[in-house]
This record gives sequence, structure tokens and C-alpha cells, in this order.
Amino acid sequence: MRLGVCYYPEQWPEEWWAQDAAQMVALGIEQVRIGEFCWSRVEPQPGVFDWGWLDRAVHVLAAAGLKIVMCTPTATPPKWLIDADPDMLAVGPDGRRRTFGSRRHYDFSSDRYLEQSRRITREYGARYGHHPAVIAWQTDNEYGCHDTVVSHSLAAVQRFRLWLQERYGGIGNLNSIWGNVFWSQEYGSFDEIGSPVGTVTEANPAHWLDYRRFASNEVVRFNRAQCEILRSLSPKRVLVHNFMQLFTAFDHHEVAADLDVASWDSYPIGALEMFWFGLDDKQRWLRTGHPDFTAFHHDLYRGMSRQSFWVMEQQPGPVNWATWNPAPASGMVRLWTWEAFAHGADVVSYFRWRQAPFAQEQMHAGLQTPDREWDQGAQEVALVAAELPQVPPAGTVRATVALVFDYPSIWALQTQPQGGDYDGLRLAFEAYSALRSLGLDLDIVSAQADLKGYAMIVLPAVPLVSDGLMAALKASDAQLVLYPRSGSKLDGMRIPANLAPGRLRELINVRIPRVESLRPAEHEPVHYQDQTGVAGRWRESLDMGAGATATAHFVDGSPAVARQGRVHYLAGWFDEALQRALLRDIAREAGLSPVPLPAGLRIRRRGNTLFAFNYTDAPLQLNVSNAKWVVGSGTVPGRGVCIAERTESP
Ligand code: GAL
Repeated sequence: MRLGVCYYPEQWPEEWWAQDAAQMVALGIEQVRIGEFCWSRVEPQPGVFDWGWLDRAVHVLAAAGLKIVMCTPTATPPKWLIDADPDMLAVGPDGRRRTFGSRRHYDFSSDRYLEQSRRITREYGARYGHHPAVIAWQTDNEYGCHDTVVSHSLAAVQRFRLWLQERYGGIGNLNSIWGNVFWSQEYGSFDEIGSPVGTVTEANPAHWLDYRRFASNEVVRFNRAQCEILRSLSPKRVLVHNFMQLFTAFDHHEVAADLDVASWDSYPIGALEMFWFGLDDKQRWLRTGHPDFTAFHHDLYRGMSRQSFWVMEQQPGPVNWATWNPAPASGMVRLWTWEAFAHGADVVSYFRWRQAPFAQEQMHAGLQTPDREWDQGAQEVALVAAELPQVPPAGTVRATVALVFDYPSIWALQTQPQGGDYDGLRLAFEAYSALRSLGLDLDIVSAQADLKGYAMIVLPAVPLVSDGLMAALKASDAQLVLYPRSGSKLDGMRIPANLAPGRLRELINVRIPRVESLRPAEHEPVHYQDQTGVAGRWRESLDMGAGATATAHFVDGSPAVARQGRVHYLAGWFDEALQRALLRDIAREAGLSPVPLPAGLRIRRRGNTLFAFNYTDAPLQLNVSNAKWVVGSGTVPGRGVCIAERTESP
């Protein structure tokens, strides 16, 4: 468990570097990430390199004892490169080319940019690949940030056609799977197919789903090209990319398969402001972020990482990019850091060392203010650094509950939501949050994962059920919870011949003849045991086949939850309390010991170590037997952390 920081030597006078490095070490920081945006300084003109300053920066940091995460600079192709070949720029949905002047302007489908990316990666790899201080490489920076995965350039369309040809073989097959007989959308050849924008009304959802799949593959191709070079020029170094929060535009499982470590960039307060959270949540967690938000991403990215995951960028103070940017409450930088370690992180690295006094992110806090004084976040980093040696070596993090998360399924739901506020990612987050509020540990796994050994498996947003997932579900004896729309689509966005839940009907004999989306204020009461909850946003009608019984009902008596043996099907998007009650009872049947935690209190076990986090501002009591507290005690202070060794479940 170690601390890191993101540093931009090119943005500061060289005379400051040595002191910066010394201060990092004194603060307890062990690794520093550099280089991801400095292409114009390394290669100011085509083929003319100025490595001197970067060599000196590397030397200064290494001499101070810091380990270096070097980045390829491909998120920011310089002006001269773009001017020489404007086709390297991506094209937006409005058909206009992106312009120079910010970042991530390149087109993943441009072969010539790919070649440039290979070229500059080779240069970096040759220069620093064997440097003893360079322990890791970050490829590019935040693939897809600012909505840049999908491009509508000619290059993208041409490559899409080839991709389609490979996938479908003949155009007749594509026409049939996409259902192009509808509205006379049939094509005579692959060369006639464009990108799915500019149509009078919505384009065929099958067209969109395939465009999303294709665009995701382009990211995989781009990342893989850098990985191949770095593996050969810089052996034994860790390859890592920094993924984003609540971001699904490409298949992260596939990109991560080429890396050693999946890392992510954690900005809990900015995210609370910018995503779907309701006004209540926004007010309540204003300065802490939602209590399950960072944990969700820790478990998601750990689940795709070959080695334990990292937080590459941790918010240290107010950010600049949300509509409103409040400061974190005192204690939160420490809490977030410990929470990452509790979920299995090896590294938590803060963004950024010092606030920049210029350009786009000048209002974004760092560990230091622009005048080189400490900002508040740094004081909390120092606290964590002092606590780290007191905490026992990290144990394993495998959980008993698996939540299956599948990117293509999320694209399918985004392509045809059928209700203005149906969001698969949000539903996955809600299911996660409900389970975690019961004190359960979760793994978030891909649809290809081995599901053996889990006591409980949850599919919150998986309309596309692959052969592999089906086989794993059949082989498992876990309690299985299927959320609405599970198994409801086939490739090509088609409705299964036997209707939803399609092939999952082998596991639970229900048929769904009708679904409806509900306006925001419309809530359908649901009776479950002695509790009444509601379905909002979505409700399904269930035909119950032989073997299936109803365990919850809508007010008109129709089934709201069906059950067959160990398999449960939820016929609506249920409110938080109802989800929690259902999941609690199913967890008990799975042999687990769910314990509803007070709002804002969360726990996580890692080997024999138990971590507790309090997102509220008042102390909360956690009853744990056989605990030896190594940090704090069973009373978890507001915005505080407690850590115990050798415990039993609370
Ligand atoms: C991340 C990005 C950083 C910086 C940061 C600001 O998305 O990787 O370069 O922009 O956000 O919060």
C-alpha cells in the first residue's frame, strides 16, 4: 500500500523540482506519475527531440528516491502534427472535425495517428524503458474522456465496414440480423453503410450497437499497439491505464486484458454533482461524495485488473469541471485513501502535486497551492502516511457476492432505453449500493468471469447473455438475482424468439409479454412480506410458468418478483429499501450474514483486516467482536476511518 502523486515538471521552473521531490518524499509519497501531456515539449518540431529537460526531471525525482510512472503523451498530439495531417482529428456527431486547443482530439481510427502513437511510444520506450526508477508505464490518459471514443470520420466508417464484413460475412446476413427489411433499410453491400448519425429519426438500434462495439475495439487496438511496444522496450515494468468514473463508452474488460494494472481516477465530489444523483443525495453527500461511489469503482476495476488495482488520480480538494465545485469535508481525503486500500488498491496517487496558476485547470486544487504552500489535502496525506505502518500487510479481497457488469449490455440499454430515465449503469450502482449497505463484500466481474465459489450472483443490467455467461450461471449453485431486462436482447438488438428473459428461461420459467416505462412521479406499489415498496421507471408483466412462484406482488395481485429454486427475477426497478429487503433475504438463503448498516457507515474486509468508514459528520457505533483496533476504535468518528485486525463479522 503506497502513496503517489501526479506531477508536471514541464509546468514549473526547473529550480523548483528538487524541492518538490524532497517535499514529496517527506510527505510519504513513494511514486510520481509524469509525462502524459508533454509531447510538444519533448518533440517541439517533427523529428526534433528535446529530451534534456525530461531526462533532468527524471534524474531529480529518481535521486530523491521516488519511483516513476512514465506516461505516453498521446492524449495531446501537438499542433504541428495535427496541421500536417488534419485527418488525424476525430469527427463529432455533427459531422464536424474536432479542433486543436484542448486535448483528446485524435481519431482512434486514423491509421496515420496510430503510427504516430507507435512512433512516439517507441521513442519514450527506448529512452526510459530500462531506467531503474521507471517502474510502470501509463498508456495515454483517460481513453474516451470528453466523449471521444466514437468518431464519425471517413477513416472510422471505412474501418467499420471491414469490421462488419468480418462479423457478418455476407450483407444478406447483416440485413437479416439487423432487421433491415423494416423501413426498407436493406443494403446491397458493406460499402453502402455509414455511421449511424444524421438520420431523420433514430437509426436502427442494431446499427448503433455495432457502431459502439466497433468503436470500443478501436480503443482496444490503439492501447494494444502501445502495450506491445512497451513490453518489448521496457520489460518487467507494470503497464497501466487510468480509467474513468461512471464511464462505459468502451469495453474496459477488453482494454484491461492487455494491461497489468487497471487504475482509475477518483473524483467523488465532482461526480456527485455531474451524474444522476437526486437533489437529496447531492445535498446530503455534498462534501463527501456518495458512500458507495468510490467503492463501486474500486470493485469494478479490481475485477478487471491482472494485478491489484490502483487509484491513479485522487481528488485532493475542489475540482474545476463540475457545475458547482465544493471542497471536500475535512477528513475525506484520508477516508477515500483508506477506502481504496480496503478494497485492494496497491497505490493511491493524488491529482495533482500543485495547483496550476494558468490554463484550463487553474481552479483545480492540488496538494500545494500555486505559491508552493501546503493545501489542506496534503495534511491528510501526511496522516495516512503516518498510519500506513500500523496496518497489517494486505490480505486477499475475494468476496462472496458477485455482481456481473457487462459493457455491451450497457450499450444495448443506452441504445434503446425505452424510458427517459432508464440507465443500466445506475441500476447496477443501486444494486451494488443496496448490497454494500448490508455489510456484504462484493466483486464486480465481467460476463466472462468464472463464477465458481460465489454464494450470490446479481445481474443488474445484463440484457445480452452470452454462451459463456449462460454456462457459468448454469454451473453455479449460488442464489441468482436477475434484475429487469436480464436476457431481453440478442445480438442485433433483437427480441428473443421466446421473449425475455430469453435463454435465462432455462433457469427460471417466466415469460415477459409486456414491459412499460414509468414517468418520474409514477410509482407502482409492491407488497413484499410485511413491507410495501414501489417500482418506479420500469415495470414488467410476468407470465408464470410451471415451477415459478411469486414472492412479491404489485397491488393488482400480479407478480413483482418470481422465484424458482435458487433463481429470483425482479419485474421492476424497485426503490432502495425494497431492493435492500429482497437482497437481504436472498443473501441469508445464500448462507451469508447481511447486517443493515446505519446510513453512511460502510465496511470492507481484506483478509483478516476490517475497515470501517463513516461518511456522515456524527460518530457511529460499529459492534465488532474479537477486534483489535489498529486505527481508531468501534466508534467511527464523523468522516473518519477505523481499522481492526482479526475480527468476526459485525
Ligand atoms: C482527469 C484527467 C486529468 C485532469 C483531472 C482533473 O479526468 O485525467 O488530466 O484533467 O481529470 O480533475
